Amino acid sequence: MSNFLEVKNVTKQFGGVVANRNVSFTIEPGKITGLIGPNGAGKSTMFNMVSAVFPPTEGEIWFEGKRIDKLPTYKMATLGISRTFQNLQVFKKMTVLENVMVGLHTRTTTGLLAAALKLPKSKQEEAFIYEKAMEELRFVEIEDIRDVVAGNLSLGKLRLLELARALATEPKLLLLDEIAAGLNHQETFEMSKLIRRIQNRNISIFVVEHDMDLVMNICDKIIVLDQGEKIAEGTAKEVQSNERVIEAYLGADDEEEVIV
Ligand SMILES: Nc1ncnc2c1ncn2[C@@H]1O[C@H](COP(=O)(O)OP(=O)(O)OP(=O)(O)O)[C@@H](O)[C@H]1O
Ligand SMILES: [Mg+2]
Repeated sequence: MSNFLEVKNVTKQFGGVVANRNVSFTIEPGKITGLIGPNGAGKSTMFNMVSAVFPPTEGEIWFEGKRIDKLPTYKMATLGISRTFQNLQVFKKMTVLENVMVGLHTRTTTGLLAAALKLPKSKQEEAFIYEKAMEELRFVEIEDIRDVVAGNLSLGKLRLLELARALATEPKLLLLDEIAAGLNHQETFEMSKLIRRIQNRNISIFVVEHDMDLVMNICDKIIVLDQGEKIAEGTAKEVQSNERVIEAYLGADDEEEVIV
């Protein structure tokens, strides 16, 4: 069952910086897998490779028996991989509903450019996209603000919007990049419940997250990176009591935020 997502001996170098060094792991279908580690550990870099933002320097990434590490980013949604972004990527002047619909237009024949230019599409296709977008807005419970312009939303609502857009492509694997960053305690709690509801739809989830309560609460398995290398892998209990993990976190400088 381990050929759902498989990362094999992946190394990523940026000039002289080794962001990931010989990292291997698998993600099992139907599970929530966490990727944690101190600042600069290489989490975002790994995430970007799994979602084909850029390729590894060495190593391979396989998804459902297909090698994906050399594919262009736009192929990911078709394969069944979608993601949210740490630095939100919404169209601020569009409404909530339009933002989710645009995400779906990219999957259809005429694409994003056509959506932006508002070229005519078949009525049936348009209706399908509308229905699908509404379904996901209802799922994340923001259908009541569907006509609000995204630029006017709170961070919490923006994160839900991004989630709805990622879900609308019906992914098999959903990557969540710090989905709880900046959320308050209550919003974080609601988010963890929502992530479980997503798992119940039989969608596998891969999360990069700094909120340890959230990670320890929801993850079936946690992978720990430190300075580009995988130092531990296991259940929340296992990684929490792992000597190398404790050492890595104690030695980490929390003040230093690396933004890609
Ligand atoms: N595009 C890039 N160009 C050059 N160096 C990069 C690039 N992206 C990441 N790095 C470097 O690779 C290393 C790993 O960075 P990465 O952003 O993956 O860490 P991270 O675990 O996501 O950290 P954080 O928790 O702070 O987000 C860092 O030393 C970083 O400076
Ligand atoms: Mg990061």
